[in-house]
Amino acid sequence: MTAAPPEVSSPRTSHPVRLQAAGLADAAVIAALQQVCFPDDPWSGEAVASLIGQPGFFAALALREGAEGDDPVGFLLARVAAEDGEIIAVGVRADARGQGTGRRLVAAALDGARALGATALFLEVAEDNGMAQSLYKSCGFFAVGRRPGYYRRADGRVAALVLRYSYTDK
Ligand SMILES: CC(C)(COP(=O)(O)OP(=O)(O)OC[C@H]1O[C@@H](n2cnc3c(N)ncnc32)[C@H](O)[C@@H]1OP(=O)(O)O)[C@@H](O)C(=O)NCCC(=O)NCCS
Repeated sequence: MTAAPPEVSSPRTSHPVRLQAAGLADAAVIAALQQVCFPDDPWSGEAVASLIGQPGFFAALALREGAEGDDPVGFLLARVAAEDGEIIAVGVRADARGQGTGRRLVAAALDGARALGATALFLEVAEDNGMAQSLYKSCGFFAVGRRPGYYRRADGRVAALVLRYSYTDK
């Protein structure tokens, strides 16, 4: 597990959102967020827990602070194997999007993977997900491949683009 990302409040919301490292105890919360962010491919809490428990995996939660406690609005799941990092999933609940939280979670993935020794960070993103692609590309990722029919959709299948961020090319 990596150190918690810095607690920076989002400048665009009156309710601050902070990121914190997540662990096995957060598996059910992460699964609930994953299910609303990726309804075509929902994961169970057990599936998330089995990922988080493996060596090289790390996770973070974005928590919106409020009078009634912290409200989980986003999550990150990532891993590092040898020198390759991978973002498994990043998601922000629909009502909390557009406030910089997704960008902060991607930054946390970049920081966390580098801390674990990655020289590159990979991810797959659906070819029809323009918003996520623009986020990743503005963070320095480039397309290096395409996997036809990779994602299931209610009306068929869609290709994945494989994106890569290099720490060493900078
Ligand atoms: C992709 C996702 C994580 C972005 O989360 P977010 O909190 O809205 O992201 P941010 O607010 O940090 O915005 C990041 C960028 O996304 C784009 N973006 C955000 N909201 C947008 C909107 N309403 N319209 C168009 N682009 C938008 C912009 O490029 C933005 O960059 P900016 O900071 O320069 O404005 C979120 O939309 C999501 O969870 N989607 C469903 C799950 C998903 O697709 N995950 C990624 C797949 S690998």
